[in-house]
Amino acid sequence: MHHAHRISLNRHLVFFAAGACLIAGACDPADGNPEPDLDAELRPLLDSQGVESVVAPPEQDPALVELGQLLFFEKELSGRRNISCATCHHPLLGSADAQSQSRGQGGLGLGPQRVLGDPDTVFLARNALSLWNRGVPGWDVMFWDGRLGGNPTDGYFSPAGDATPQDFSSAVAAFSIIPLTPDEEMRGFPGELDVHGNENEMAHLTNDDFADIWPLVVARAMGVPEYEQRLLAAFPGASAAEINIVHLCEALGAFMIDAFTALDAPFDRYLAGDDSALSDAEKRGALLFYGRANCSACHSGGLQTDFGFHNVATPQVGTGRPEDAPYDLGHYRVSDDPADMYKFRTPSLRNIELEGPWMHNGAFEDLEDVVRHHLDPEASLIGYDDLQVEPELAGTYHPEKNQELLDLVDPALAVEGEPLSDEELADLMAFLSALTDPSSLNLFHLIPAAVPSGLPIDD
Ligand code: HEC
Ligand code: HEC
Repeated sequence: MHHAHRISLNRHLVFFAAGACLIAGACDPADGNPEPDLDAELRPLLDSQGVESVVAPPEQDPALVELGQLLFFEKELSGRRNISCATCHHPLLGSADAQSQSRGQGGLGLGPQRVLGDPDTVFLARNALSLWNRGVPGWDVMFWDGRLGGNPTDGYFSPAGDATPQDFSSAVAAFSIIPLTPDEEMRGFPGELDVHGNENEMAHLTNDDFADIWPLVVARAMGVPEYEQRLLAAFPGASAAEINIVHLCEALGAFMIDAFTALDAPFDRYLAGDDSALSDAEKRGALLFYGRANCSACHSGGLQTDFGFHNVATPQVGTGRPEDAPYDLGHYRVSDDPADMYKFRTPSLRNIELEGPWMHNGAFEDLEDVVRHHLDPEASLIGYDDLQVEPELAGTYHPEKNQELLDLVDPALAVEGEPLSDEELADLMAFLSALTDPSSLNLFHLIPAAVPSGLPIDD
């Protein structure tokens, strides 16, 4: 009743104000309602925080992109020839795998249907990261906890330590040295045969034998005539003996940059000057995001990330990291600084709708719950239900860590004034959906018809 009364009151106001808004220029052109001039508020707010159109990555060499696409879907690079990058970063699954934590080599099926499969198959410690916009200049920090990064000027660091090659063109290209090496991820365990029933020549090495593993991966590629020919054509300065892991990674990087750059969301069009690109709800959501809800304290700039590390008290659920199982201490394990306990890299929120479940451990399967968690971490931790992670991970919620998480939570996680109303939360969600690039909704064309090894493709 109360609600209905308010609506009819508004109608009167509309009628009354219809003439006035023509003069003031404050009408919403879509429905003629007198709206506050949202652009007059939002544009200066964005300017004051330096939120500008995102600089697109440089154009990638088409020969490299094509080669990278094949390698990305190529299971020949994995120890048992049973898993490719695309298994966990699938174009139709938001460049991730739709699981809380990825199932590594030996897993069966794809996406939400994937199961552990072979007896030795395990969960990777974290949620598969999406690959959107990783080629944007300045994206120099990789992993949920920042354990790899760099750029051509300052050089690169990674879990491979001193063995980390330095001649990469970007951090996203450099990243590819990593997933190929862990036994549980792509390399395989000793004693397990490959899909043809042959021995896996990489299995006897250990995970930190980086420099010994990479040449074996390169040999897998060079053993397929089409890859040898494509690699030599793409890198005319290198002889067959000189082709190394950097060349493979550069091709993978070129493909990831070309395929997953997604900078044509409604929000991009708005940043480029088109006031009509966002709806009123999306603009109100942006005003909250960059204003009262304080999201941009961490999710700053056009990509909604400061590339910094913060503790937002995400529930400790899942396997945890092997060194701290069943917990995950985040950036602390990289920096060794106790002030970094439970901190994770602020995720970019581009295409955020497309890559659930969310957080470093896939703790939440509903995007609105992620936002509610930020707005009231304590209530979220108390009410947290681990039925939303994979059935195999049920019972892995560790509420005994909640108090410590809350004691250390980032103080920037604070709404100014009253808690957000339901309408405001809906506006905030509308803004998040304005970060989706419509062209990312169907990336079917990225799946090759076949790969040179003839092995099956995840599609
Ligand atoms: C078994 C699943 C799996 C496979 C296979 C896999 N990844 Fe990943 N990928 C992940 C997970 C999980 C993360 C996040 C790991 C972390 O932060 O601890 C990740 C992170 C990344 C990132 C970092 C993104 C960022 O924002 O920091 C890149 C780039 C990437 N993977 C590329 C690749 C490439 C290229 C391949 C193939 C050579 C590959 N991945 C194979 C699961 C996988
Ligand atoms: C104190 C810094 C900080 C603030 C303020 C903040 N976030 Fe976050 N946000 C993070 C970090 C760090 C993560 C990743 C946490 C994790 O993985 O455990 C995250 C994760 C997210 C995710 C999930 C991303 C993914 O890839 O899984 C969404 C969505 C999100 N934040 C939205 C918001 C919104 C909306 C607001 C404002 C209400 C906000 N954040 C405020 C730091 C912050």
